[in-house]
Amino acid sequence: MSPVELYKDKTHEVLMFTDLIDEDGQAVQANQFLICDGDTGAIIDPGGNLAFNELFLNMSKHFPPSKLAYLIASHADPDIIASLDRWMTSTRATLVISRIWERFAPHFTKVGKTDDRVVGVPDAGGRLPLGQHELWLLPAHFMHSEGNFHFYDPVSRILFTGDLGASLVSGKQAREPVTELKPHLPNMEGFHRRYMVSNKILRLWVRMARELDIAMIVPQHGAPIAGAGAIKDFLAWIENLQCGIDLFDSSAYRLPKNVIDPSITAGHRPA
Ligand SMILES: [Fe+2]
Ligand SMILES: [Fe+2]
Repeated sequence: MSPVELYKDKTHEVLMFTDLIDEDGQAVQANQFLICDGDTGAIIDPGGNLAFNELFLNMSKHFPPSKLAYLIASHADPDIIASLDRWMTSTRATLVISRIWERFAPHFTKVGKTDDRVVGVPDAGGRLPLGQHELWLLPAHFMHSEGNFHFYDPVSRILFTGDLGASLVSGKQAREPVTELKPHLPNMEGFHRRYMVSNKILRLWVRMARELDIAMIVPQHGAPIAGAGAIKDFLAWIENLQCGIDLFDSSAYRLPKNVIDPSITAGHRPA
């Protein structure tokens, strides 16, 4: 399927790829993004090896890979950056990633592939030149990764939120922006309770996010959240969500008694 055009004007374009991974496979659905400003291009959250071939091929229809300036990673999880070796081989792009991951990222590549090609972003974030504009790298630490950034594009007013706002839906469903939050909550709730670290962090982040003029919140899994109403409701929901360490107590830390049956693999476990 062709990518979703999230924004386009004469010089600026934002594309979302939602279905590059085999739907019947056991890997979680993930979105990848191409953002172009004039003749400068960047991939946001390029994904794992499952997505590489399709993304590279599709991207080439819109933008010459040889001119790709950046690979921008919200954090260092496998579904974000495991394809790093192939991107470093096929393009001359620079990896932009949290400073706390900059020395871990080379573990994804063959020796020397990342030499002088990693920009480590400090905890405070910053504004990254992209063509005639800038991409804002916003602190989103512990949402869920310890060194985590979200990306705000002031031209399209899209906020790319990595795993925040993620929903567990199909690649096809991920193409359709959600404009009403309530029916969408069951797709997000379990994920956020377990993968987000604490309500304190969510509240601090919401305070920052409310200063932005946001047209769309676009997560790395599932559907974008679009429109003033749904975005306002999302911020209010996140602000009040108990998650992660809020929900863990001594009962979660006991010496285990149950035997793990190694013949039951992930795809064959009863629901
Ligand atoms: Fe993640
Ligand atoms: Fe993810």
